[in-house]
Amino acid sequence: MSWRSLSGSASINRPRQEAPITSSLFNPEAFSGKVAFVSGAASGIGAATALRLADLGARLVLADWDKTRLDAFVETIGSDDVLALHVDVTTTASVEEAIASAIGHFGGLDLAVNSAGIDMPRCETASYPSEQWDRIIAVNMTGVFNAVRHQIPAMLARGGGSIVNVSSVMGFRGFAGQPAYTAAKHGVIGLTKTAALDHAAQGIRINAVAPGFIDTPLLSHLSEENRQAAAALHPMQRVGQPGEITNVILFLLSDAGSFVTGACFDADGGYLAK
Ligand code: NAI
Repeated sequence: MSWRSLSGSASINRPRQEAPITSSLFNPEAFSGKVAFVSGAASGIGAATALRLADLGARLVLADWDKTRLDAFVETIGSDDVLALHVDVTTTASVEEAIASAIGHFGGLDLAVNSAGIDMPRCETASYPSEQWDRIIAVNMTGVFNAVRHQIPAMLARGGGSIVNVSSVMGFRGFAGQPAYTAAKHGVIGLTKTAALDHAAQGIRINAVAPGFIDTPLLSHLSEENRQAAAALHPMQRVGQPGEITNVILFLLSDAGSFVTGACFDADGGYLAK
């Protein structure tokens, strides 16, 4: 039997829509005027992404639990098109209110990056504190669910959108002493795939990125010795910089990723290739 008769359609391999060809990977002007929600925006990967989106002319809804730090960060952006919101992603009402504010302020939502996350001291599973488990799952996994749960309807009202969730290499591998963090990050990938399936036909793409260790305040608790050890886990023998994750996030958000959904992109100096 030929492939054509199996597929039932000779045109199945024809692109439905040609992506625009530009001299750069994505058309930077395509971000201009887009409304982008970033959680965990006061620091690290979220802040780096917010800065790049602002440079590209996006209108920003920046959400963080740490409002003081967020307000200080917003001062440095130098754009008037910023709505800074005190949001706790663990609370569905807080996220719902933030999305409603975004719609009220900017008229809708096109893009979202869910980067809010926490880390806590390592502890082996048999003695891992339940409260620590609950807190990490609440922020790093339920927080992403609360976000996409409210971002998707807002994007549907616009006819489409693109969401990137920040997972981790620990979304693919175990890591001794980190049962909650690894469980949450595996969960983010499962959630990303399922949400992508649920809304693929409605013009919403939902992807994830899996960073290796990145030089942000999240790693501030590491001693210099542990920092060196973390760097050595990567074949590139270094940790990454927040902007190196932002590059992948922008690709996934942009039309350059127009046929990518339900995917998780590694940006990890080769960590997962081992
Ligand atoms: P970060 O600590 O620099 O930034 C995280 C931000 O999330 C902070 O501004 C914090 O206030 C905010 N946040 C925490 N709990 C929140 C809550 N309940 N509601 C709203 N905002 C909240 O950390 P970083 O490194 O930028 O982390 C961003 C994401 O990247 C996280 O999801 C983290 O798990 C993930 N990641 C980080 C890696 C790293 O080595 N730095 C490696 C792999 C993934």
